[in-house]
Amino acid sequence: MIRFSHVTKTYEDDWRALSDITCRIYKGEFVFLTGHSGAGKSTFLKMIYMDDRPDTQRGGQITVKFSPTAFYDSKTTKDASIQTLRRYLGVVFQDFKLLSDRNVYENVALALRMVGVRNKEIKLKVFDALALVGITAKRLAMPYTLSGGEQQRVAIARAIVHNPYLLLADEPTGNLDPDNANEVFSIFKEINARGTTVVMATHNPDFYLDSPFRRLSLTQGKLLNRDIF
Ligand SMILES: Nc1ncnc2c1ncn2[C@@H]1O[C@H](COP(=O)(O)OP(=O)(O)OP(=O)(O)O)[C@@H](O)[C@H]1O
Ligand SMILES: [Mg+2]
Repeated sequence: MIRFSHVTKTYEDDWRALSDITCRIYKGEFVFLTGHSGAGKSTFLKMIYMDDRPDTQRGGQITVKFSPTAFYDSKTTKDASIQTLRRYLGVVFQDFKLLSDRNVYENVALALRMVGVRNKEIKLKVFDALALVGITAKRLAMPYTLSGGEQQRVAIARAIVHNPYLLLADEPTGNLDPDNANEVFSIFKEINARGTTVVMATHNPDFYLDSPFRRLSLTQGKLLNRDIF
């Protein structure tokens, strides 16, 4: 599904955030992305959700294939197509990024409204997503009245309400206490068990040690384990 081929990303000040990354992430996998602060985890994820591209000169190539017709290639896909491709994925951040002037239901419904889904279908999908993260009872609450754990569950519901093929999470438990962090991790495992590919950047060894899931480990922009190509 995701293929990095010799991907290098250099920022303006000649800082190499990613250096010659080659790896694959397969459909249905749950993959951890680990590494110290500044190792390149967020940059790696940005390359996948197409917030940024590899260097134009000798930057390598990324392809992300959701279906035969939904296909992203960092070398050829035009900026204008990226919004359409994002409909196939969801992203969750450490700081939730909920809209403060809308209630829980509307935060989750917004992406569906923007692409013209009918109200009746929106309701079904939003209720399904809220149930999966266990927050249906708070659907009319405003984000600022929720705990951090609850806000993150809303953010996850928003990221999966359109049934994405791929869920990307950038340190989703970084702001949560251990109980809420475990809860969020369980939700990600459940989403993966239902068929969505999950890539999760994390600092928390409790999650990835003794886990059956594969781990991609970055250090100073380089991939340590080059096990699968
Ligand atoms: N837009 C940018 N401009 C300049 N440098 C950047 C930019 N984005 C990232 N970097 C640099 O690239 C390197 C990798 O950053 P990145 O955010 O990917 O690390 P990270 O592994 O996510 O770190 P953290 O665990 O702190 O979130 C860092 O040294 C960072 O300062
Ligand atoms: Mg980061």
